[in-house]
Amino acid sequence: MEVPAALVASHTAHGRAPEREWIAGLPALVAELADRWELTRDGELRSGEAALVVPVRDRDGGPAVLRLQMPRAETAAALSGLRAWEGRGIVRLLDADPGRGAALLERLDGARSLASLADDDRATGILAGILARLHAGPAPADLPRLGRVAEDMLAEVPAALAALPDPADRRRLADWAAALTELAGEPGDRMLHWDLHADNVLAGEREPWLAIDPEPLVGDPGFDLWPALDSGRERLVANREVARTVRRRFDLLTEALELDRDRAAGWTLARLLQNALWDVEDGRTSVDPAQIALAEALPRP
Ligand SMILES: Nc1ncnc2c1ncn2[C@@H]1O[C@H](COP(=O)(O)OP(=O)(O)O)[C@@H](O)[C@H]1O
Ligand SMILES: [Mg+2]
Repeated sequence: MEVPAALVASHTAHGRAPEREWIAGLPALVAELADRWELTRDGELRSGEAALVVPVRDRDGGPAVLRLQMPRAETAAALSGLRAWEGRGIVRLLDADPGRGAALLERLDGARSLASLADDDRATGILAGILARLHAGPAPADLPRLGRVAEDMLAEVPAALAALPDPADRRRLADWAAALTELAGEPGDRMLHWDLHADNVLAGEREPWLAIDPEPLVGDPGFDLWPALDSGRERLVANREVARTVRRRFDLLTEALELDRDRAAGWTLARLLQNALWDVEDGRTSVDPAQIALAEALPRP
């Protein structure tokens, strides 16, 4: 079994032992689960940066995929969220082993994501429809909560400010943190996907488009817009269309989801803050210009 190079690279770049061991153990893990769940391989391996996806046939010959991700808290949360959504707007979970980071999922078209749609308004409308359905579901008690995530983010801001030499970057980060402070008292109670961009929506047969790859979090729907606003950024940058497209998408998403625009803009700044804090944690010493461009495209109260 040839583990896809992108997955190997994302797990060996930092040279940490548990990641390397997980990659090395993948062939044996696939064999073990195939044996236990009576699966046979059926097609090309796929992957992103986090997961190995193995197309299989189940014991009745039905198409499915075996998805493996390092067993961590996020992996268990993803399984819990998928179980709670029961396939409404998102891929169906057929079986799971959280201890092994393994999920048996309904098979979708791994080669056709929503990124293949040229009409941006249509793609945004589909993302909005999926988000609305995901947000409608009742949230299980074991998922992470935005209130807690917000507290942790705000606690990290002073150290992050100290790591940014450019005063303009520090002003921006402080600005985004102020937006979060204003909203953190009402963190919301909806089940969020946290990573719903066009590559995480696949064509299916049960429904034309279904979400995959959730990182479930309980909170305000406004915190769930950024991946859809940022979707396909390279193309937007190349066409110098960031400002117009982001604003158009923001209008469509807030209207379809019936969100308060000021609060949605504030939560989006909070999401940009989160990205910036992750970047600083990874050793970056400036705010990503793409994130700044997105912030500038949002309506100001
Ligand atoms: N249910 C599925 N059916 C078919 N292909 C899938 C399915 N889930 C994922 N894939 C394929 O595997 C790739 C990586 O899956 P994903 O869950 O997004 O992992 P990552 O977290 O690494 O991005 C997807 O982009 C898609 O091509
Ligand atoms: Mg993905």
